[in-house]
Amino acid sequence: MILFLIVLLPSACHCADPDPLQDFCIADLKATISVNGFPCKPVSEVKSDNFFFDGLAKEGNTTNVFGANVTAADVLAFPGLNTLGISMNRVDFASGGVNPPHSHPRATEAGVIIKGKLLVGFVTTANILHSKVLEAGEMFVIPRGLVHFERNVGKGKAISLTAFNSQRPGAVVLPFTLFHSTPPIPNDVLTKAFQNVGDTLAAANDSVPDHDLVMYALEGLPPDYEAFVTSITNRVEPILFPELRSRLLIHEQRIQQFHPIVSTDAHQAFFTDR
Ligand SMILES: *[C@@H]1O[C@H](CO)[C@@H](O)[C@H](O)[C@H]1NC(C)=O
Ligand SMILES: *[C@@H]1O[C@H](CO)[C@@H](O)[C@H](O)[C@H]1NC(C)=O
Ligand SMILES: *[C@@H]1O[C@H](CO)[C@@H](O)[C@H](O)[C@H]1NC(C)=O
Repeated sequence: MILFLIVLLPSACHCADPDPLQDFCIADLKATISVNGFPCKPVSEVKSDNFFFDGLAKEGNTTNVFGANVTAADVLAFPGLNTLGISMNRVDFASGGVNPPHSHPRATEAGVIIKGKLLVGFVTTANILHSKVLEAGEMFVIPRGLVHFERNVGKGKAISLTAFNSQRPGAVVLPFTLFHSTPPIPNDVLTKAFQNVGDTLAAANDSVPDHDLVMYALEGLPPDYEAFVTSITNRVEPILFPELRSRLLIHEQRIQQFHPIVSTDAHQAFFTDR
């Protein structure tokens, strides 16, 4: 038994993405085959620009129900990160804005406050909350997979930059995971699970407007949904969330019929990989 455990231990300690086997591997996001990550572009097509990304220079639009906006520099936005085991996010906060409780299933997070004053907290598996108000230049760390949040407690806007030990940390955003899964978690499960906080949660469920859900859903989709996203965003009439959800399910069924062997990762994008 002990021997068995010792044999298992090294694999149980893989705490980040696998190591690269070459200098770089610029992701070919349009490749038709799927691997754990993305295949590499041919070296002859690699340009210096593949190693630089200006997406985090731009302020996110915080006019949404949370008053916060996460701009991801993960492998989907910045293909140069492919196989390198790291990525970053920029989070913009309006005054009073909240990055709602969420976790990153594939990465530990380190962050630094660039501007303003943020309450940063995470909850351990023993349900202990560790939290602190941080100002510009101060850092925090969120152990892999633990539920955490940030709230702007200063005057005016705030910005944080975060780094992850995964090219695609993924995000389980609890308000969406619990109340807007497809299909929904049965109400009696949620009622029983949350007991007397049920009413509060039902209220929280109602308070996320449809257009924010649509935006979050579209943002989370992987590159092979590009045509789908374009068709939705080009509509004259804005789409409502329930319709988006059913269209997406149809689209996913089609993709699965045409490409029966796909990585589950790429197709669990709906809400899980924001
Ligand atoms: C975040 O900001 C970007 C850039 O302004 C915007 O396109 C996007 O819709 C915003 N996302 C949300 C959820 O507000
Ligand atoms: C930010 O988003 C809101 C709501 O979607 C929109 O009305 C506003 O024009 C956007 N602001 C900018 C600067 O894009
Ligand atoms: C959340 O809202 C959806 C859509 O309005 C509804 O179908 C679902 O039952 C609600 N969930 C809870 C727990 O109230």
